[in-house]
Amino acid sequence: MDLVHREGLARVGKFSTPHGVITTPTIMPVINPNLRILSIDEMKKMGMEAIITNSYIIRRNENLRTHAQEKGLHDLIGFNGPIMTDSGTFQSYVYGDIEYGNLEIVDFQEQIGSDISTILDIFSVPEDTHEKAEKAVMETYRRMNEVTTERKTIIAGPIQGSVYNDLREKSARLMSGTLAGYLPIGGVVPLLEQYRYGKLCEIIINSKINASFNKPIHLFGGGHPMFMGMAVLLGVDIFDSASYVKYARDGRMLFQEGTRDLKEIIEFPMWSPLYGKYTARELKEASLDVRTRELARHNLFTIFMELKEIRERIYEQTLWQYVEEKSRAHPSLYAAFRSILKYGEKLEPFFELYRKPPLYYFDELTEMNPYFTRLKKFRSIFIGSGEKVSYVPDGAWQPSRLSSRFISEHYEKNSNPYLIKWMGIEVPVELEEAYPVEQVIDVMHYEEGFADDPETVEKSEGERVRNFDLEKIRALCDFQFGIGTGKIVFPPETEIVKSRATGRIRTISLNGKFLATMRAHDGFLGLHIEGGKRLQSVSKYPENRIVVDDESADYNARGYNVFRKFVVDFDPNIIPLNDVIVVNSKDELLAIGRSMMSGIELATYRSGLAVSVNHHTQERGQA
Ligand code: GUN
Repeated sequence: MDLVHREGLARVGKFSTPHGVITTPTIMPVINPNLRILSIDEMKKMGMEAIITNSYIIRRNENLRTHAQEKGLHDLIGFNGPIMTDSGTFQSYVYGDIEYGNLEIVDFQEQIGSDISTILDIFSVPEDTHEKAEKAVMETYRRMNEVTTERKTIIAGPIQGSVYNDLREKSARLMSGTLAGYLPIGGVVPLLEQYRYGKLCEIIINSKINASFNKPIHLFGGGHPMFMGMAVLLGVDIFDSASYVKYARDGRMLFQEGTRDLKEIIEFPMWSPLYGKYTARELKEASLDVRTRELARHNLFTIFMELKEIRERIYEQTLWQYVEEKSRAHPSLYAAFRSILKYGEKLEPFFELYRKPPLYYFDELTEMNPYFTRLKKFRSIFIGSGEKVSYVPDGAWQPSRLSSRFISEHYEKNSNPYLIKWMGIEVPVELEEAYPVEQVIDVMHYEEGFADDPETVEKSEGERVRNFDLEKIRALCDFQFGIGTGKIVFPPETEIVKSRATGRIRTISLNGKFLATMRAHDGFLGLHIEGGKRLQSVSKYPENRIVVDDESADYNARGYNVFRKFVVDFDPNIIPLNDVIVVNSKDELLAIGRSMMSGIELATYRSGLAVSVNHHTQERGQA
């Protein structure tokens, strides 16, 4: 699985199968080989890249079985792209025991040429006791381990564990360590049917963050467009959906934010493939077959439309915001969004240092997002618990500028930590320009009649004891690279050059050599080689480092990007999109660049871009 674009745990990725590459996030429509509703060509036009079908159904039907065995699964389905097959697990959950064994059904899937074959996992239901669910996790793991040799087919090893977070974690860790190249989250259909999205979010988080990032995460049965954005935000890559047909049969229509009954509909929306073809009244009066096919068409179209929006949101890095907005569509989604926020600390390591778009602040729930969690964490370690703190009075700070009078007459005349009361949290004043403090957009920007009321601040007596600009870059350094690094990377004689037009810090150097620049778009530091050397001297190995093997080292020293497969060691606490120092196995500095992954993700990704190099120690042409 290669990472193409990211926003926290959400990713656009590329997954290779024997019949082609799947771009994720995507959905595999469920195809019942006995019952064709829409043509493959039509589904391809909607954006379908892969499908899922059931090997158990094929195996039980003589005609289907013979066709698949003689001419292959792809010929049977009439689709030359990636096909996943499920085992009979879901049937055994619905109808009781089935007549095939695990290896038998895996061998069959391989034999008919399935791209992704599923083991016969044990489906746990939400009502199962912890003990029963744990047994199912262990039995599923045992069955996965029955698959002892590499196969022509990718093996899907489902993560089970019912509603128990510890079991989901255990199952995710166990299954990640096996030959399974694909990890579906199983046993969630009853929760989806009951709209228990909050519990589902917890299950996804506990499965995802403990699973290998190198393997796609599939949500079995999770194809309702109202929940897909939330699931992708938490790291689901692939969905499957039989719902487009099931809902159609019941006369129900999927919309991006919910479901409507055809009976209640007066007008079809213009974007629907039904628009202009039928009026709502005509479709209500059509035969069951026609109605089912037309509604299935509308439903699948809606699902792909939502997926397109979700992908675009990841490219734009606004998926979090989209999910926050959409969570108001239904109380079950709102409850789920609140349950995600409880995991702020667990999610924070996966969130990038900054994003391109501004952060929209709506209400106190925004304060629970991972960016705020990160700021709160920093505040608590940057300022010791016993220290006397001072607050910047209203009017002395305007987003995002501390008044120059306040700086010279107060901040620089004592050494107290100063905090801005910003939104509902407290932020060290030195981070005034760092994402998201400066980049936030809140209702105050748009409320009429909001007048700033500057409070007069009494002048402090005495000498200047510190320099705000120097303290600012030191605090940013502490935030990005660890408490205590700022003082060493930027000694008192550091030269700071500010833009004449904007008054903002631009370049930072020492004895005529660049240490860093301060970026305009996110207010963070971009290190240069000399700054990197100083950071290396103050950071204990492997802090702030990505270590590459000898094969890659020369290339990286000449400015070529670092690929994951050459990384031999790294700091597990790396923040995605933060600068890192690239070193060889002797800890010699080669380059500085932006890490494309968090330390946690680096541990399990096997391929893809790891560091986008910005500065290097040797000339490009040099060997
Ligand atoms: N389809 C829906 N849920 C499941 C599950 O838990 N396991 C398998 N194999 N298929 C499913």
